[in-house]
Amino acid sequence: MLAGQSVLITGGAGFIGARLAMTLSDRHRVTVFDNFNPQVHDAVPQTRMRLARHGVDVITGDIRDPREVGAAVARTRPRVIYHLAAETGTGQSYSKPTHYTDVNVMGTAHLIEAVRRHVPDLPRIILAGSRSVYGEGSCIDAQGRPACAMDRRQPDLDAGLFQPRSRTGALLTPVPTDATCPVAPASVYASTKLMQEYLLSQAFWGTPTRVGILRLQNVYGPGQSMNNPYTGVLSIFCRQILDGQVLDIFEDGQITRDFVQVDDVVRAFAMMGQARAMPQEVLDIGAGQGATILSVAQTLLACLGAPPDRLVVTGAYRPGDIRHAVADISRAVTLLGWQPDVALPDGLARLAAWSRDQVSYPARAIS
Ligand SMILES: NC(=O)c1ccc[n+]([C@@H]2O[C@H](COP(=O)([O-])OP(=O)(O)OC[C@H]3O[C@@H](n4cnc5c(N)ncnc54)[C@H](O)[C@@H]3O)[C@@H](O)[C@H]2O)c1
Repeated sequence: MLAGQSVLITGGAGFIGARLAMTLSDRHRVTVFDNFNPQVHDAVPQTRMRLARHGVDVITGDIRDPREVGAAVARTRPRVIYHLAAETGTGQSYSKPTHYTDVNVMGTAHLIEAVRRHVPDLPRIILAGSRSVYGEGSCIDAQGRPACAMDRRQPDLDAGLFQPRSRTGALLTPVPTDATCPVAPASVYASTKLMQEYLLSQAFWGTPTRVGILRLQNVYGPGQSMNNPYTGVLSIFCRQILDGQVLDIFEDGQITRDFVQVDDVVRAFAMMGQARAMPQEVLDIGAGQGATILSVAQTLLACLGAPPDRLVVTGAYRPGDIRHAVADISRAVTLLGWQPDVALPDGLARLAAWSRDQVSYPARAIS
């Protein structure tokens, strides 16, 4: 991607997209296409101002509307498209399967048709994919052999047996997961994210358009909505702590996630756009290390000066939740030359400071 070229970011007003837009705006003409979904955006004027200060053009439009998507692509004639627009709530996707399919799957199809019509020579389209497509992800058995984890069974979960198991019921040990792991989406959201990957790869096969896919782990950091109850567990924890609430920790607190800081993720996207030869393989983007939900809750309580006992491990579980998620990031390191910089304790401290600021000065935008 040469300096001064046009870049279009769908979902570019969101948590990751806005940071990406502002970062790329130093060298490129960046346009954001976003419908400012009210579930995500509670400070639209501030977000618009922040993007405008960085010279980012904003097109308000809905990815579900083929005319609006087509007009945005025709107007900007991008050399790189980052496709981030999506509904992102795993839990919410159960109650709104039509809506999630409309936005995530049909929206991607509209984008494909807009590219074909208006920029058939588009060099790159880069998708914000999700590690949710793996379901439980890679595991090994007691002998250290690769083994497939089955969807966790309700009777086991009711009995407090949370660890992943094989088809025969044997306990499995999770290991870091990369794109060699067979996909097994465990939620409606995950299925729609997988469809996005399939549609882009299939539609642009044999065309000048290269498709890049980053499967993101749990992205966190300043700028993530603190009011959207369906995404961003760490932002939700910050909000609850600052509101004086007790944190509910699901299962036995040992659910593991790979938390990757948003600046690291934005750097990965920027590198995908700028790499001389963009990696064609799916890349996993995470910290490459797991942290339990209990431990991050405890750290955030400490960072925000709340008593350590302001949490309860409930034993409750949620359908579609997976137990462990840790990325094997070695392909991103080797093929893209990317690796994460922000250590979790530092990232959590920054998130806590930002969230405190948000509650004290809700209209203040991040820069
Ligand atoms: N945050 C994470 O942990 C994470 C993890 C894996 C994958 N992802 C993916 O990264 C992308 C960005 O996620 P995010 O965390 O920034 O979420 P976000 O909700 O902050 O951003 C999504 C943006 O898409 C916009 N949008 C939603 N519906 C739209 C529609 N119909 N038309 C146009 N715009 C619409 C929203 O207004 C929002 O600005 C998503 O595709 C998500 O699936 C995120």
